[in-house]
Amino acid sequence: MLDFLGSLQRTQMCGALGVEQDGQDVVLMGWVNRRRDHGNLIFLDVRDRTGITQVVLDKEVSGEAHAKAEAARSEYVVAVKGRVRRRGAGLDNPNMATGQIEVVASELLLLNESKTPPFSPAEDAIANEEVRLKYRYLDLRRPQMQHNFELRSKVAMAIRNYLVDQGFLEIETPFMTRSTPEGARDYLVPSRVHAGHFYALPQSPQIFKQILMISGFDKYFQIARCFRDEDLRADRQPEFTQIDLEMSFPRQEMVFRVVEGFLTAAFATAGISLTTPFVQMTYDEAIKNYGIDKPDMRLPAMVDLTDELTPELRETLKIEKALPVLGFVIPEAGTLSGTQKRGLVDEIRLAFGDCGLDFLDVARLKTNAAFAPLAETIERKVSAAAADLIVVTTPKLGISEKHSKGELYGELKYAPNWFSDRLEIAIYKRVGALRLQLAAKFADKHGRFVKTGTEADFKFLWVTDFPMYEWDEETKVWNAAHHPFTSPHEEDIKAGRLTSDKGAVRALAYDIVLNGTELGSGSIRIHRQDVQAEIFRSLGMSDEEAKERFGFFLDALEYGTPPHGGIALGLDRIVMILAGATSLREVIAFPKTAKAIDLMVDAPSVPTEQQMKELHLKTVTRS
Ligand code: AMO
Repeated sequence: MLDFLGSLQRTQMCGALGVEQDGQDVVLMGWVNRRRDHGNLIFLDVRDRTGITQVVLDKEVSGEAHAKAEAARSEYVVAVKGRVRRRGAGLDNPNMATGQIEVVASELLLLNESKTPPFSPAEDAIANEEVRLKYRYLDLRRPQMQHNFELRSKVAMAIRNYLVDQGFLEIETPFMTRSTPEGARDYLVPSRVHAGHFYALPQSPQIFKQILMISGFDKYFQIARCFRDEDLRADRQPEFTQIDLEMSFPRQEMVFRVVEGFLTAAFATAGISLTTPFVQMTYDEAIKNYGIDKPDMRLPAMVDLTDELTPELRETLKIEKALPVLGFVIPEAGTLSGTQKRGLVDEIRLAFGDCGLDFLDVARLKTNAAFAPLAETIERKVSAAAADLIVVTTPKLGISEKHSKGELYGELKYAPNWFSDRLEIAIYKRVGALRLQLAAKFADKHGRFVKTGTEADFKFLWVTDFPMYEWDEETKVWNAAHHPFTSPHEEDIKAGRLTSDKGAVRALAYDIVLNGTELGSGSIRIHRQDVQAEIFRSLGMSDEEAKERFGFFLDALEYGTPPHGGIALGLDRIVMILAGATSLREVIAFPKTAKAIDLMVDAPSVPTEQQMKELHLKTVTRS
């Protein structure tokens, strides 16, 4: 028999009780987290958003309440009236925030029952994520998830407050709009009124925020939902949230300082203080030192050992003359045995092919007269400690013979700015990838490599001067590496490189990176119509096509557009990292699976015939 609430009112949250409330009468409401029956004494752990309190139902205090507790089960919704008391000597539970007290119930109301849940919210996350997503409401009851969403709310609020204080206006932009070029496919919404016409959901507010600058709003921001139909991964969802901002008359550094400011405010909500300004390096430096455009600064950089090799050593190791030899260190990983190391090498060979990888075990090398000087140099250059693992990778024969050059070129997303030989970039990237793959083997379950406290856990970085264009090997065209509204460096325009040497054009584009994850991207934009038209042309877009897709925007540029620039950061990614999670699904309340399905509501779904008719649509199955 269920009870009605009557006039009972909650006085406290379950997590808010401690010894200070000893002797106080309270009313708690929440879910039965666990129930333990000791005959005349029944213990109910009652849970709400803030925590868990132990409630004691003593048959001698209230027979009626005790009888109801006998009927209560996990996830029943209850109201408890009772008195707080200190637990008996030696009965404190140090694992519970409220572990020093308990509530002796005089009254228990069973407000609602629950079917036996497919998994218990009282337990840590179960392995089967599909079940978690199908019963998301139960999954979200878990304290870890409640914590994640409290964190998310605080982070968003801190960012909002900071930006408003800095004079930014929050302005909403449409969901039903035209295609925005962020490189993914669009989600389309059919129009009922205009047969055969579709709105596109925005991949980002990019064009609108630029138009808001043309409109004179000076500083805009929005915590904006974006929609992208793209291959999903742990850090990609089809709908996600950006902290999107745009400023008029900015220098790149002004954008950086704003972002550093709001991130400092956001991280402070989790008790983490950040040191600003963040480290800054160019794209070229990132590739050369880390082999990737989003370096994980928690790990030491790669070291170029090319010049350390004597001609004899090159001969012995069969390393092609012109190719770089790189070394890197995985801190605190040197506890591996010889067999474990060899196992790792085999595993990596499987993944990477025989790219000349070698663990040059320094101790072993030193025993060989020919290698001893190299071993010493490596030790010195990579400043490794005894417990670290040193890896030296040599392109040897591997890269040029076992992998065709074509395959390696395929890996080159960007054209080089400073390498004369693209093969070199491929080597840097390959070794960079290897460095991450190896390091991941020694990371903890939160992806942390070195356990040196919170300070070391959050390494921010600005990467600047990205290439303007990206060569698409498949379609044999140059694409915009960021988006086509990004301004190239003035010198590169003046030098005519837009036509003569696209691979060498640098963009005023920047990324903010945290622990190897791209948190955000932005750029200084093109504010002149003639330059914008030239960029469209340089991307192989005819004037007609540019007019058809972005005519309204090209028009707007002609009415006094101020120089402007901005950035967008993934809010989901920020919260994911702050929460120590490794998937966005832990910080998005109702996420989609890797196949873009919402398992709880079962979307996408088939519309009714009536809807299809009204929308002038017919489904045809293509073979
Ligand atoms: P960009 O496309 O790089 O830039 O996106 C900015 C940031 O948004 C986040 N993000 C995602 N998060 C989760 N799931 C996704 N599918 C996803 N896609 C992107 C990332 C990324 O760094 N308009 C430009 C910004 C600008 O130039 O101002 C833009 O959208 O954290």
